Amino acid sequence: MKKEFLDLGKQPIANKFLNKGEFNNEFLFDLKAVFDDETKLVSLKEFVAPEMMFNDEYAYHASMSDTMKTHFKSLSDRLQSEFNPVNVLEIGSNDGIFIRHFNPDTTIAVEPCGNFADMTNDMEYKTYPEFWTTKLSTLIKQEHGTMDLIYAANCICHIHDLDDTFTAVRNLLSEDGIFVFEDPSLLRMMERGSYDQLYDEHAHIFSVTALGNLLEKNGLEIFRVDNLSVHGGSNRIYAGLKSKRITELSVSTNLMDENNFGLDRFETYEVFSDRVKKSKKDLVSMLKSLKLEGKKVIAYGAASKATTVFNYCGIDKSLIAYITDTTPSKVGKYQPGTHIPIISPEEGFGDTVDVAYLGAWNFRTEIMNKEISYLSNGGKFITHVPEVMIFS
Ligand code: TMP
Repeated sequence: MKKEFLDLGKQPIANKFLNKGEFNNEFLFDLKAVFDDETKLVSLKEFVAPEMMFNDEYAYHASMSDTMKTHFKSLSDRLQSEFNPVNVLEIGSNDGIFIRHFNPDTTIAVEPCGNFADMTNDMEYKTYPEFWTTKLSTLIKQEHGTMDLIYAANCICHIHDLDDTFTAVRNLLSEDGIFVFEDPSLLRMMERGSYDQLYDEHAHIFSVTALGNLLEKNGLEIFRVDNLSVHGGSNRIYAGLKSKRITELSVSTNLMDENNFGLDRFETYEVFSDRVKKSKKDLVSMLKSLKLEGKKVIAYGAASKATTVFNYCGIDKSLIAYITDTTPSKVGKYQPGTHIPIISPEEGFGDTVDVAYLGAWNFRTEIMNKEISYLSNGGKFITHVPEVMIFS
């Protein structure tokens, strides 16, 4: 049975940055989270239609971050040297940040966002501009044979029907093939109070526990888990066909950590929900105090996570003057829901800013290294992770 534990209010499409004429009739939905006490899966109560989120205007551009470029380069080196895959498929290939390290003759991609599918097709990678389904996996098998490596980053948690997703993977994997995928970790979200992992795209936030249950149901088995720091704490899951590989220690360690935290019990989620309500109160009161002191407060990074935070907390232009972001397609637009303007860092980030709310808190190290002169001139940042705080 699915039990609701969190209500983040009315929310827009987190990555649909708006032009000025698009404020009226903006699509909003109830962002609520539920826990399934049978599978232990945490999901959104209401799913948003995939076509509304993943289309030709999709804004998230993975290669905008140096952290992510290094992340995918070192992973592809490791996968190639350890597993030596010939046929490779990526589900949700975005701008090709991962597949660019593989041979285009034996690597194919699936990407429903037309703007990105065009990019990787131009890079000579056969790209199917479609959603991942068993129907598509059957077609790919007919056209290209089975796959030795199926990879997906920050994509599987977007897909509503996980049984169909995993069946589609199992059908396309070669006998010794591996399925490697990474998504935000539920344990890290719960430990850090980072409720902003929840937004329309993240239909599920995975624990290793829930994934073990769901993969097994569909003929797959986890044999390794890597804990990653990217995207605010993620898990990379390695799975193969059932009973094909020796299960490594990392699997039981992760299951034990999750069990010790109580991820299998509904009460843990009720405690989390109280923590989220306190986070909202603390953030709003900090921003109001700064305003009373006459400080110029902006946000750094128009992250999708910041859409959740600002809409949940009711933060608008009166508290945050504008958001700076390095992504060209976001600059000149407005944050969904709050309609706070987004400008480039060149235009909006510098000595006139007193405090910057760290929207892209998951890139904290990269940003702190980049903004040394802001910090040494007395500039400060605010984050809500793990608690609301101001730091310099
Ligand atoms: P994301 O967490 O949804 O990927 O969003 C992070 C956003 O932060 C993305 O739009 C790029 C932006 N960003 C900056 O503006 N400056 C930076 O230094 C970094 C690392 C990210």
